[in-house]
This record gives sequence, structure tokens and C-alpha cells, in this order.
Amino acid sequence: MAMHFTTLVAVVCATVCGAYSQSIVFDDAPGMGRQFDGIGGLSGGGATSKLLVNYPQEQRDQILDYLFKPNFGASLHILKVEIGGDVQSTDGTEASHMHNSWEENYQRGYEWWLMKEAKKRNPNIKLYGLPWGFPGWIGQGTRSPYVNVSMTADYIVRWINGAKVYHNLTIDYVGIWNERPYDISYIKALRATLDARGFQNTLVIAADEKWEIATDIQADPALAKIVHAIGCHYPGTLSDPDAVSTGKQLWASEDYSTFNDDVGGGCWARILNQNYVNGLMTATISWNLIASYYDNLPFYGDGLMTAVEPWSGNYVVETPIWVSAHTTQFAFIGWNYLKHDSGVGKLPKGGSYVGLVNPTWTELTIVIETMTHNHSLCVRPPLPAYNVEPQVVTVSLAGKFSSITEMNVWYSKLGFDGAKDILFEKKDPIKFVNGKAQLSLGLDEVITLTTMTTGQKGVYPEPPPSQPFPLPYTEDFESYKPPQEPPNLAQQFGVYEVTKLPGPHGNVIRQLSLQAPIVWCGGSGPADAGNKSLNIAGSRNWTDIYVAVDFQLPVINGSLGAFVAARVDEGGCEAFAAHGIFLFAFPDRYIVTNDLARTKTLKEGSLAFEAGEWHRLGLLVQDGNVQGSFDNKILFNMTVPALPVSGFAAIGTDTFGLADFDNLQLTGPSEGRKIMSKHLHSKSLYFEKEHH
Ligand SMILES: *[C@@H]1O[C@H](CO)[C@@H](O)[C@H](O)[C@H]1NC(C)=O
Ligand SMILES: *[C@@H]1O[C@H](CO)[C@@H](O)[C@H](O)[C@H]1NC(C)=O
Ligand SMILES: *[C@@H]1O[C@H](CO)[C@@H](O)[C@H](O)[C@H]1NC(C)=O
Ligand SMILES: *[C@@H]1O[C@H](CO)[C@@H](O)[C@H](O)[C@H]1NC(C)=O
Ligand SMILES: *[C@@H]1O[C@H](CO)[C@@H](O)[C@H](O)[C@H]1NC(C)=O
Ligand SMILES: *[C@@H]1O[C@H](CO)[C@@H](O)[C@H](O)[C@H]1NC(C)=O
Ligand SMILES: *[C@@H]1O[C@H](CO)[C@@H](O)[C@H](O)[C@H]1NC(C)=O
Repeated sequence: MAMHFTTLVAVVCATVCGAYSQSIVFDDAPGMGRQFDGIGGLSGGGATSKLLVNYPQEQRDQILDYLFKPNFGASLHILKVEIGGDVQSTDGTEASHMHNSWEENYQRGYEWWLMKEAKKRNPNIKLYGLPWGFPGWIGQGTRSPYVNVSMTADYIVRWINGAKVYHNLTIDYVGIWNERPYDISYIKALRATLDARGFQNTLVIAADEKWEIATDIQADPALAKIVHAIGCHYPGTLSDPDAVSTGKQLWASEDYSTFNDDVGGGCWARILNQNYVNGLMTATISWNLIASYYDNLPFYGDGLMTAVEPWSGNYVVETPIWVSAHTTQFAFIGWNYLKHDSGVGKLPKGGSYVGLVNPTWTELTIVIETMTHNHSLCVRPPLPAYNVEPQVVTVSLAGKFSSITEMNVWYSKLGFDGAKDILFEKKDPIKFVNGKAQLSLGLDEVITLTTMTTGQKGVYPEPPPSQPFPLPYTEDFESYKPPQEPPNLAQQFGVYEVTKLPGPHGNVIRQLSLQAPIVWCGGSGPADAGNKSLNIAGSRNWTDIYVAVDFQLPVINGSLGAFVAARVDEGGCEAFAAHGIFLFAFPDRYIVTNDLARTKTLKEGSLAFEAGEWHRLGLLVQDGNVQGSFDNKILFNMTVPALPVSGFAAIGTDTFGLADFDNLQLTGPSEGRKIMSKHLHSKSLYFEKEHH
């Protein structure tokens, strides 16, 4: 008989085909495997949803539907978010609810908003918070979050309480310190503080790194009682025997992190099944939820879908959304996996299958994947070689399931080498005769067989076409409500909020970090760049550009200096080493450097201004020359440094400390030249200095 290996063919098994195929059995008689804890996405760690917030409402709602709406798209079960700590946490900085010990605010950043949007669509979605870093005051001068564990526990539980009080959000899970050392006395202090404040139902996941906490759990019954699930990052589908023997639920509490093309989709399909098949992991959370950060920032595009153009409304629903749907739309938190060899396992010729059953054992969902090695590589860890071949399998339903006569079929095949993707298509139901049906499996396929009659491939009209960042761009921040984050400005160090000042400036953006935070990344992090704040905008690809901004350094707790910059070539954890063209203004001088850290001065001259005064800084890069201006007078005209050839526009401060910015202006070079030549006719500062 002819076998079609490239398309799904379900044939009722005649005696003759039995010889061709091996059986995979789904049987409840041996009992159930572990409880399924869900599939999730991670917003933050960091600033990965930055650009989403500023989308036009219509497209933003569509995107949120693709992510969270049940029976529509990824229909996620878990939303994990960063508990902002004013630190760079991969693609930017997220705001802490307590920049300083003497204040707190639960309206900052975008994670509150995102959690509410998720809950609005799916009231059953579980929420999970985890810090990447902490504001500096938590360390009491040490830059460790564990120097006073009750202080840190208080700080974290305040965030959980703020979620409840200000947003009516229940935080289901809380973690320790992302991919950084855990401290057992802190975990105990956290549990005690949660209990004391009425959050007995907020469960602790530890420790969001590898499996090493398993041995501590084995040795310490009190700790064992506290840890609800062991969360491991990038487990490569394998769990540690020590972790298994704790009896705790095991989670891939951060995974994926792979560019969201078809190989990314293949990675996601393989790990969603095999994290349980190989490693008994019952939850898998994608870093990140949505790639919504500027082009060329680290791990660009490593989300379930992409939305990087708030100005155009363009977004792209990528393959991982539909791969998620194969599981998320047909199995839910509280369902159970079947046991290995009676509903969970590897396919005879490569690939894997999992069977999931609802709590009353009346519904069965089977997810099968046949991802080939090269088409399912994840960013990490390395994937050992293996083979997958086209195959015919007999799906054999036993026990309670043997009475099933038909299952609904959802089918995807990732298209490589020019082949078109088939994504989450509903096929004709598959018939079972005496509990048996044959399935012909090709390569790079995901197939869901389910008794569930729900499920939908959600669709919206094509979003508006892609557009570059709109120039000229001016921003006076008047349309934003404090303490919103400035739209389109992606803070990399320090933390910026729209702030209302008395007087003519009205809304400005203010840098609010007063001291170096307890960092997550970047070696000694901002300290390496002399505790500078950095806030980027536009595109990593910008070459010639004009950037100007009003600034003031407040008298109380002010930063020592402010800068504008062009061609800034780094964001993320390495941003302390960013190169570009930086014009710093200090009360007594200006300095032009080729890097954020100010390791080499290209040009300097004098200035005279005081803290508490507003001034305007400008920088024009055009045709091989750079001109700087202060209060609309030209400061210098020099040759553009050879490198970098392109980069973001930026503003920032020279040390932590308050600084205000207003009337940000970004234009293309020709308009910038017109502005600069007007300045030429004003009294030139540098002329005055050089000819006096
Ligand atoms: C630890 O922090 C708490 C506030 O959360 C404070 O009451 C206590 O005095 C601090 N302990 C020390 C040793 O600083
Ligand atoms: C808070 O959320 C719960 C569901 O979690 C809902 O039942 C309740 O109505 C909400 N309360 C308010 C004031 O919105
Ligand atoms: C997988 O990729 C490797 C490295 O690029 C290549 O050598 C190998 O031939 C590929 N395998 C298949 C089956 O395409
Ligand atoms: C940055 O600030 C921290 C404390 O806030 C300090 O320990 C460190 O030395 C500073 N780094 C530089 C380069 O000034
Ligand atoms: C920026 O340049 C890179 C490399 O040439 C390119 O891949 C990317 O698409 C460009 N991004 C934008 C937004 O133009
Ligand atoms: C300035 O810092 C001090 C602590 O060093 C603090 O008490 C005060 O509230 C701060 N003022 C402002 C405006 O930030
Ligand atoms: C800057 O210097 C270049 C090269 O000397 C010159 O061509 C250009 O006109 C100067 N621009 C201004 C605004 O002075």
C-alpha cells in the first residue's frame, strides 16, 4: 500500500498494515503521570515588552489576543513577569516599585498592565513574579540582596501586595533571584513574610538557575516544605536525578530563547513535549513572551511573536504561537500526563508523544512531534545528534480510552527549503476501530489528536505594513501620565519616568536611580561605565542623525552631568561598553567621547551653567562631520570617529542621580543641518572661547 509521508494520512488499520507500523499506546490503567502545570511566556528579564505598550490600541489588543485569549492563539497558561529592579536585565531596565527605601509606587512600568490584560482574556492564567536585580538601597551598601533577608523579603512581598491592592491581581508564584545565587535563609524569610501578610497561596519556585537546589531540598525538610517546584533554566529537556528524587514538581521555568523563525518553532515544539518525556518537567516558560524590543538588541526576535513597531502597528505572528496552540488549547493546568510507556514516550523512528488527561479522565489530548535535529535547534544547550525518519504508527487506545471512536486532529508541518508552512490546521477527525488508528508521520510535524471539540486558529486582518522609525520625531511628554515610562525610549541603565514639574516644562522625563543597583548582568555592570544611565531610541542602523534635548540637573540629588549621543552601538548587558559619539555636558565643561565609559576624550571645552537650570544639547552627525551645540550655539565641528558606523540615538546621565529631560528631537541629517546652520548665526560659543 502507498504511504504518503509528507501529508497526514489516517487510515483505519487493516490486518495488512499492522506489519508496517509500531504501536504507541494510551492507557489509563497503569494510572497517571505527573500533573501538568502549564505552558507560559515571560515578559521581562528584561524589558522585552517595552515597545508593545505604545502600540495603537487596535493592534495591541490583537497581539494580546494572539498571546492570551483562550482558543485563539498561544492561549498561554502562565504569565511570568520581571519584578523590576531598576537594573539592566538583558534588553533594558524595568522599574522597581521602590527606587528608594522612602517611597513606593505600584503604577510603574508595563508589567502590571500586561498582567491585567492577560487576566482580562483568561481569568485562569497563573501569574509568576521574579526579580533580576534590586535597587541599590536593598544592599545596605553591599550590593547583595541577602545582607538583610527580611528587608528583601519585605520588598518582594510589598510587590505582591501591591499587585493585589492596586491591581486586583493575585500572584500565584514567586521566585528568588534570576540565575543568581539563592540563599536558604532568604527563602525561609520570604515564605514567613508571605504567610504573615496573608499570601499563603503564593507558592515559591526555586531557584531559577539549574537543579542545584535539589540537594539542599533533600537535606532540609523545612526548605523542602517551602519549595513548590524546582525551576530550572534551559534544561535541554533533561532533569537531574536528585531533582526527580525530591518528588517536587519540576519546571523549565525559563526556556526557548531562540529566534522565532521555523527553527525556533521546531525548538519550541520539541521541548514542549520532550521536557516531560525526557525530564518529567510539567511546565515550560518561554523567554520571552513577545519580542518587543528594538532591532539588534541582544536576542532580537527571541519571543513567541514579534512586535517592534509601535509607530506603524506592524507585528508578526510567528510559528511558536501556533506550535504553542497544539498543547495550550487542548490541555490545561490540573490535567495529568499519562505514564511513560502508556501514553508518553519516544516514537519508534524519532520524535515524541505525550498524552494528557483531564481531572475526570473524560478527555484525552495527544501531542506528537517529529522535529528533526537541524530544524529544532535551540539557542542553548547544544543538542546531541539524533535521527527522525518518516514513519507509520498505530495509535492504540486502551483502558478507559478504548471506547473512543474518533479524535479531532490539528496539524502543523514546518516548511523548510522553500516549502510552505502548514500551521495549526484543523483536519478531518481520525476514526478508531477497536481502539486503533494508523497515522503516517512525516518530518517536522506537530499533530494534536484530541477528544476536545474546542480549538480555533484565531485570525485578524493583516496588520499595517512595516515602517521605519518616524523622523522627524519630537517628544514633549505632555500626553503621558506620570509615572509612565517614556515611549520609544528604551532605558538600558538607570530608570526614567514621566514626571510633572511645576512651571513651563510641565511633563519631563526624569532619571530616578540615585545609586548603583544590585545588578544582574554586565560584570560589575554600570559601575564599569562609571555609573552612567543610558536611554536609547530609534534604530541600531542609524548613521547620520540629529539629536537634541533640553536637560537640567536638579540641585538636590542631581546627577553630575547629562549627555546626548548618536551611533550608540550596544544595548543590553554589554551596554556599559557601548561606543558611539557622546556629548557630555557638565556645569564647567563639555566632553566629546567615542564611548559611554568616557575612556578617551575626543574633544573638550568649557561651559558654565548651574544645577537647576535648563539648557539644550544638540548633536549632528552628517557627511563625516559631527557638530555639537549648547543652547543653540555651536560648540565644535569635528570629524566623525571611524567607528561605530551606525547606532541608536541616546540620552543619559554621567552618574546616577536625578536628571530631567524634555523636548527630545530626532531628525534626519538634512533637517538637522538646517537647525544647526541657524545655530551658526547665533553667537558661537566655541568661537568666543577660541578667539578671546
Ligand atoms: C533589616 O531590615 C529591616 C527592615 O526591613 C529593619 O527593620 C532591620 O533593622 C534591618 N536589620 C539590620 C541588621 O539592618
Ligand atoms: C478582582 O478579581 C476577582 C477575580 O480574581 C473578581 O472576582 C473581582 O470582581 C475583582 N474585583 C474588582 C474590584 O475588580
Ligand atoms: C545538519 O547541519 C549540519 C551542520 O550544518 C550538516 O553538516 C548536516 O548535514 C545537516 N543534516 C541534515 C540532515 O541536513
Ligand atoms: C558606582 O557606584 C557604586 C555605589 O553606588 C560604587 O561602589 C562604584 O564605585 C561606582 N563606580 C564608579 C566607576 O564610579
Ligand atoms: C538593521 O541592519 C541589519 C543588518 O544589516 C538588518 O538585518 C536589519 O533588518 C536592519 N534593521 C532595520 C530595522 O532596518
Ligand atoms: C535626596 O536623597 C536623600 C537621601 O540621600 C533623601 O532623603 C531625599 O528624599 C532625596 N530627595 C530627593 C528629591 O530625591
Ligand atoms: C564642519 O567642518 C567641515 C570640514 O572642515 C566643513 O566642511 C563644514 O562646513 C563645517 N560645518 C560647520 C557647520 O561649520
